[in-house]
Amino acid sequence: MHVTTESLPPERIARLWTTLLVPRPIALVTTLGESGLVNIAPFSSFACLSIVPAYVGISFGAREPAPKNTFANIVRTGEFAVNLVPRSLATTMNEAARVVDTTDDYARLRLTQAEFDRSSSTRIAECPASYACRLVRTIDLSPAKVTLVIGEVIEFAARDEFCVDGAFDPLAAGLISSIGVEDFLALSGEAFAMPRTYE
Ligand SMILES: Cc1cc2nc3c(=O)[nH]c(=O)nc-3n(C[C@H](O)[C@H](O)[C@H](O)COP(=O)(O)O)c2cc1C
Repeated sequence: MHVTTESLPPERIARLWTTLLVPRPIALVTTLGESGLVNIAPFSSFACLSIVPAYVGISFGAREPAPKNTFANIVRTGEFAVNLVPRSLATTMNEAARVVDTTDDYARLRLTQAEFDRSSSTRIAECPASYACRLVRTIDLSPAKVTLVIGEVIEFAARDEFCVDGAFDPLAAGLISSIGVEDFLALSGEAFAMPRTYE
């Protein structure tokens, strides 16, 4: 195969491109909604932008008529948390991508809410590691209908059983990543598929 991006329709670019920059870690992002309900949704256009200070980037696709809840909540509150996803939470993560605005996502997804020490973001107790971020800036990537959110990590929370010498052991935690639109890879080496639950 040898193609130029301008010769491909958007869905063909998506199909190919999502398999060519892999594996992409999955951020299961918790934010506080305007009504006080917590929103939880996964994002894999997610990257480390700086080590010290610890900066992360997450790209949000546009949604009409209103932006994605996570994006709107981050812009309004200036805060969010990233929760890392173990294999045991793969289906829960996939289900979190489906928008249900009327419930608190901790209850909907049967997850346990835990706190940070110095951030009002909440974290998912079942996740092996989470970090609280404050919004640094957003960057409109026009003409792409995408906005990049840059956040600075202000607090790490990792389960002691997965911590060794001041580091986190992602293999022991069994984290999963994205290797296609519906394809995933666990750090154990297991590849698996799950259907899309969102538009
Ligand atoms: C594995 C996975 C990765 C995703 N990555 C992204 C992403 O990087 N950017 C994005 O805009 N949407 C992404 N999505 C889709 C969002 O999760 C979806 O649009 C969700 O409904 C957003 O929820 P919200 O409106 O509550 O924020 C992804 C979905 C899944 C299952």
